[in-house]
Amino acid sequence: MTRNKKDVASKEILNTREAAGLLKVTTQTIKNYIYSGKLNAIKTPGGHHRIKRSDLKTLGFVTEEEKNPESLSMDEMFQMYNSLVGTLITTVESLIKALDTRDIVSSGHSSRVAEVSCAVGKAIGFSEKKIQELKLGALLHDVGKVGISEVILGKPGRLTDQEFFLVKKHSEIGEKIVAEVEYLRPVASCVRHHHERFDGRGYPDGIGGSDIELNSRIISIADTYDFLRSDLSFRKAFSINDSLQEIKNSSGTQFDPEVVKSFLNTVQGNLFQLH
Ligand SMILES: [Fe+2]
Repeated sequence: MTRNKKDVASKEILNTREAAGLLKVTTQTIKNYIYSGKLNAIKTPGGHHRIKRSDLKTLGFVTEEEKNPESLSMDEMFQMYNSLVGTLITTVESLIKALDTRDIVSSGHSSRVAEVSCAVGKAIGFSEKKIQELKLGALLHDVGKVGISEVILGKPGRLTDQEFFLVKKHSEIGEKIVAEVEYLRPVASCVRHHHERFDGRGYPDGIGGSDIELNSRIISIADTYDFLRSDLSFRKAFSINDSLQEIKNSSGTQFDPEVVKSFLNTVQGNLFQLH
């Protein structure tokens, strides 16, 4: 009984004939490779050669899937995409954790902002792809602080006008950093606008309402909530209830009222456990 092509394609251990078929050479050529040491092989008790499929790569063999990524099924491509995005998010998370320690807000700020933002995104009905984009934007929202002096970021006490002017540059610096990386570019403008206000009195562009992209409007609330919940050198952290009240008080001025509603529904409906 002969094995069909598909069986050979999935076999890990091959005989010389199967290896020859995959490499499109003669069995004698395979034997020559073995005898010359170019190809590893083991011998069966009967004296036949057996070759590990992965060893064929040393001779430049690539699978059909490797040659033609477009021949992957939609499911496989989706899984591959998800795994790449997952790796990207994990990488960004660990880099940002290091950066967070430079700030007065308690460390882990960006991860917490990402968690809250994603919970709100889910409540709004975002697709998995939109959630991933929101998560990246939230993780990276303060990445521009890498360009701000640690002396200012960690200053115990309130900032002078000049210092505050410099700190405010972080959203533009962040946009530039993120825009440099192809895979992160879609979240660059969201990073730029995370300090805009719904009433147009934010920075850096002073845009308002729906001119501010939805992801930035969500991150803005999660960011402020986490800031209020942090112990600072010049004040204690607000309680959960007081922090929520502050968010409500700024609905329609600093924050988009619809997003405030979604945020409150998310946390009060126990869809997300606030810290
Ligand atoms: Fe910020």
